[in-house]
Amino acid sequence: MTSNRHRYVSPPDNRATRALADVRLAAEVLNRGGLIALPTETVYGLGADAGNPQAVARIFSTKQRPADHPLIVHLRLAEQITDWAREIPPLAWLLADVFWPGPLTMIFKRADSVLDGVTGGLDTVALRIPDHALALSVLEQFGRGIAAPSANRYGRVSPTTAAHVREEFGDAIDLLLDGGPCAIGIESTIVDLSAGDVRLLRPGAITEQDLHRVTGMPIDSPTVAGVRCPGAKDSHYAPKATVVVVTAEQAAHEVRRWCARGCAVGLLGAERPSMIDDAVVWLRLGVYAPEQARELYARLREADCRGLDVVVAVAPEDAGLGRALRDRLYRAAGLGDARMVANDAARAES
Ligand code: TXA
Ligand code: MG
Repeated sequence: MTSNRHRYVSPPDNRATRALADVRLAAEVLNRGGLIALPTETVYGLGADAGNPQAVARIFSTKQRPADHPLIVHLRLAEQITDWAREIPPLAWLLADVFWPGPLTMIFKRADSVLDGVTGGLDTVALRIPDHALALSVLEQFGRGIAAPSANRYGRVSPTTAAHVREEFGDAIDLLLDGGPCAIGIESTIVDLSAGDVRLLRPGAITEQDLHRVTGMPIDSPTVAGVRCPGAKDSHYAPKATVVVVTAEQAAHEVRRWCARGCAVGLLGAERPSMIDDAVVWLRLGVYAPEQARELYARLREADCRGLDVVVAVAPEDAGLGRALRDRLYRAAGLGDARMVANDAARAES
């Protein structure tokens, strides 16, 4: 009898075997109340079992995050919404169908069973399905919701590579899953559906126009409605360096002004103005918004690694994904939404 044994033996694929082992280990760590760092398409998350109060508490202590800042619960399937939320509007299923897995977080009235630690004591809960194969495998293996804020210390820049997470937390977490650099690079769009309309709380890769196209509804944006993510303080997503946001025309003047004061200055933007001195570090951003989003946080971290005092950042165009980039830059600069408008107006006048 001829053996056809070899037909059934696939060549050893160490990468696939290792990935499977990582996924199993991640689920084990979560099951025993541990913390994992996991890649998503937006930024790396610091994940714990969303149903385990001690594990959730560890997220807060590790991040040094105030307890009233709610967490996003990550799910594997849209049908799991009903485990976490009540009074789910039909619109939510449409948005889930179009945008999940993907960079959209939806806020609902919470189910009674959701931990206060997750919601920061609010009557609402934030849910999303991330679009990253490794995160989805972990969610599948674990089988329940994973609470995960961005894997950075409170108020700092979100991590977009495993190396960034290591810089933030070292050995303070139980498992770090390396899924490569994040494809999008800035945090998910957040919409609040808990009040009957669609409120945009945080701009992201899914834009106001995308949301309007799918829902056919007007989208209240934070500056219009005055709505903010609870706990979102003005200074956020911030490097140690002072960030100053300017128009392309103002950049050279602003750089010279800071250099004249003896500061170590970086210019964050797509173009390096030729008149700028060699001592100025060019923190190069790509030309197009998706490229800029992918690179933004790595460049802000680079500013700190190089010991820069000031980052002069050229504001991207205020449209589409550019709006989210502006939002993050203004927050890095310590300017909130309200002042963002005032700041633009003041600059337009000057
Ligand atoms: O892309 C993302 O959303 C990443 C990845 C890891 O999924 N996560 C993330 O989480 O950015 P975090 O915790 O860094 O930011 C979540 C934001 C916070 O500003 C929080 O206030 C807001 O979501 N949030 C969470 N639950 C909320 C709720 N029930 N109502 C209003 N805002 C909420
Ligand atoms: Mg965060």
